Amino acid sequence: MPLAGSRDWLRWPHDPDRPRFAYGADYNPEQWPREVWEEDLRLMRRAGVNIVTLGVFSWSRLQPGPDTWDFGWLDELMDRLYGNGIAVDLATATASPPAWLTTAHPEVLPVTRTGETVWPGARQHWRPTSPVFRRYALELAGALAGRYGGHPALAAWHVSNELGCHNFYDYSDDAAAAFRAWLRDRYGGLDGLNHAWGTDFWSQRYTGWDQILPPRLAASHANPTQQLDFTRFSSDALRDHLRAEREVLRRAAPGIPVTTNFMVMGDLAGMNYADWAHEVDFVSNDHYVQPGPGGADELSFSANLTGGLARGRPWYLMEHSTGAVNWRRVNPPKAPGQLARDSLLHVAHGADAVCFFQWRQSAAGAEKYHSAMLPHAGPDSPVFRDVTELGRVLAEDLAEVAGTWRLPARAALVFDWESSWAVRRDSLPSSLLDAHREALDWYTAFLDAGVRVDVLPTDAAWEGYDLVVAPLLHVLPGPTAERLHGYVAGGGHLVTTYFSGIVDENDHIHPGGHPGPLRDLLGLRVDEFAPLPEGTCVVLDDGGIGTVWSDRITVTAPGTEVWARYADGDLAGGAAVTRRSVPGGGSACYVSTRLDGGHRTALLERLLAGAGIGGELPEELRGRVELAVRAGEGAEYHFLASRTDEPVKIGHLPGVPLTGTAGRGSAGRGGDAGVLPPRGIAVRRVPPREAGRRPAAGPPRASS
Ligand code: GAL
Repeated sequence: MPLAGSRDWLRWPHDPDRPRFAYGADYNPEQWPREVWEEDLRLMRRAGVNIVTLGVFSWSRLQPGPDTWDFGWLDELMDRLYGNGIAVDLATATASPPAWLTTAHPEVLPVTRTGETVWPGARQHWRPTSPVFRRYALELAGALAGRYGGHPALAAWHVSNELGCHNFYDYSDDAAAAFRAWLRDRYGGLDGLNHAWGTDFWSQRYTGWDQILPPRLAASHANPTQQLDFTRFSSDALRDHLRAEREVLRRAAPGIPVTTNFMVMGDLAGMNYADWAHEVDFVSNDHYVQPGPGGADELSFSANLTGGLARGRPWYLMEHSTGAVNWRRVNPPKAPGQLARDSLLHVAHGADAVCFFQWRQSAAGAEKYHSAMLPHAGPDSPVFRDVTELGRVLAEDLAEVAGTWRLPARAALVFDWESSWAVRRDSLPSSLLDAHREALDWYTAFLDAGVRVDVLPTDAAWEGYDLVVAPLLHVLPGPTAERLHGYVAGGGHLVTTYFSGIVDENDHIHPGGHPGPLRDLLGLRVDEFAPLPEGTCVVLDDGGIGTVWSDRITVTAPGTEVWARYADGDLAGGAAVTRRSVPGGGSACYVSTRLDGGHRTALLERLLAGAGIGGELPEELRGRVELAVRAGEGAEYHFLASRTDEPVKIGHLPGVPLTGTAGRGSAGRGGDAGVLPPRGIAVRRVPPREAGRRPAAGPPRASS
C-alpha cells in the first residue's frame, strides 16, 4: 500500500488542482556558466515549459568528495525555477557515480560475461548489487530528499535514470552472491533448484550454493533456465535498487510521487516493466522514434504499451527528441511536422507529460550532436519555433484533454516479457524468433484494419476484451493457461501463434505434445517444429506468405476449422491457420507462421468480424489514419494521425476540431483544416458514446 499522502501524479506547485499537460525537458545547467541560466529561464517561459528534470547527472557536482557537499547551485536553481513558475522533477543523481567513488571503490564497477571490468568514462558504471554503491547512492538520495523534500518547486522524484540501460547484466562476484540469495528465495533448497534447472542434463547437478554462478562465458550453451533466471534476477536487482531509493525518498517526503524513466521502445530491454510498473507512483517512459517507414507505428505501439503499463492512468513521457539523436549509425533530423506528431501520438495514448532530452543542446561531451529544445542554432530557429508552438498547443488547444484517460478498446494485444526474453536465448529451434517484432506485426495489422487495440502486459485485466491476441506466448505457466481457458470459455476470442504455450515457468517443455496446455483449447497438436531458414518462405493456399516458422500440425478436435493450409514444401496440405469455436460463443485461433502483412490484416479482419468488432473510422480512412481515443467525463477526444504520404481528407469526420498540425508546427488554434498532411495529427472533441467507460484496472500504485 502507498504511504499516507503519497500521490499518483505530479504535485504541481502552483494551482495544484488544475489539470494540465507537463511540458519540458531534462535540464543540465551544470554544463553551462551561470549567465546562461538567466536566458534558459526566459526561453523556457517563452516555450511554455512548466517542468524540468534536474540533477540526473549531477553527482560529481553535488558531492565533490566523500565528505564534501555542494548544494548551493541547486538551491539557487530550485528557487529560480520556482520563481519562474517551473516545477521540478528532481533526480536522485545516482545514475553516474563520480570518479572519486570508483577510484576508492573499484569493486562497484560491473563485470561483463567474459570477465572484463566496465570502467568509468561514460556513465552508469555501477553494479546493481554492490552494497558499497547502494550505500553511497542512498546517502546521496537521502541528502537530496532531506534538503528538497519540502521545496515548493518539487513536483516528483526521479529515481536514478533509465535503470539498466547500460548495466542490466553484471556478472561480478557481487552479482553471483546476490543471484544465489535470489535463487534460495525462489526455490528454497537445492533440490528445487536442481529440478527447475534440469541439472541432470550435462552433469550440472549442484551440491552446494557456492557452486552456482551467473551464466558467465561457458564452453557451449549455458543452462537455459539458469539464463532465464539470471534475466529475471537482473531485472529484480535493479527493481530492488529502485525500491531502496524510493523508500529513502518516501520517508523524507511522503507527499511527493516517485517515478523512474522506463525505456519501452524498439525491441525492448531486459527490464520487466510489467513488474516494475507496480513500484512507481506513476509510469514514465523514454522513447526515441525510429527513422524511416514503420517508425510511427512503433512509436504508437510503445506509447500504447506504456499506457497499458500505466493501467489507463496518465503517464509521463520523460524523454523523446526534437530531432536527431547521436547514437545511431546515421542520425537524421525529424521531418517537418514530425516533432508535433510524435509528441501528440504519445498524448493520444495517455501521456499527460511531454518532455524531451534535453533543454539546451550541449556544447561538449558525447551528446553535443543530440538535438534539444533549444538547439545550437538558438531560439530563432525552426526547431525552437516548433517547440514553442507545441507548448502553446498543449497549454491552450488541448488544455481540456489533460487529465482524461484512454478509452479502452475492444481488442487487446498481450505482450509477455518473460516470453520475449526466452525466445531470444540460444539453443532454440531458431535464432530468428522475436516476440517484440511479432507483437508489432499484429499491432500494425490492427492499424491497417483501422481498429483500435490496447497493448497490455500479461498480468493486466484482458479478460474484459472481446478479442485477445497473445502472440509468441512461449512461457506459459499454469495460472496463465487457466486464464486463457477461462477467457475462451467465457465467450472470448483468443488468437495465438507459433511457439506459444511450449514451456512452463521453469522453461520445461509442457508434456504430451505442443502446445501443452493450449492443445485442447486450439484443437490441435504440433508434432514437429519446422522453422524456416533466413531468406526463405512458405506459401499458403490462400496466397499468404509465411516466414520464420512453420509447424507440422495434427488437427485433433472435430470442430477445428482449417482456415489456411501450407501449399508448398514438406508441409504441403498441412494446417497453417486454424480456428476452433467453443460452446458459449468463444473461439481460439492458431497462426503457425509469421504471416505477411496483407494476409495477417485480412485474417485479423475476419477474426474481428467474428468477434463483432467493427472499425470506428469510415472505410476510406482505415489504414491511412490511426485513431486513438481519450475520454473525460463529458467528452471523447479523437486523435487522428496520418499514416500515409498523401494528404487525407478528414473534414467529414464528426467533432469540434481542437488542433491540427500541418507542415512545420501546427495549424494553430481553431483546429485542423479538414485535411491531414503527411505526418499530420488532428484532435477533435466528440460527444461521449458511453458515459464513464473507464479503464478496467486502477492506477499503478507503488507498494511499500
Ligand atoms: C537516454 C538518456 C539521456 C540521453 C538520451 C539521448 O538514454 O536517459 O540521458 O542520453 O538517451 O538520446
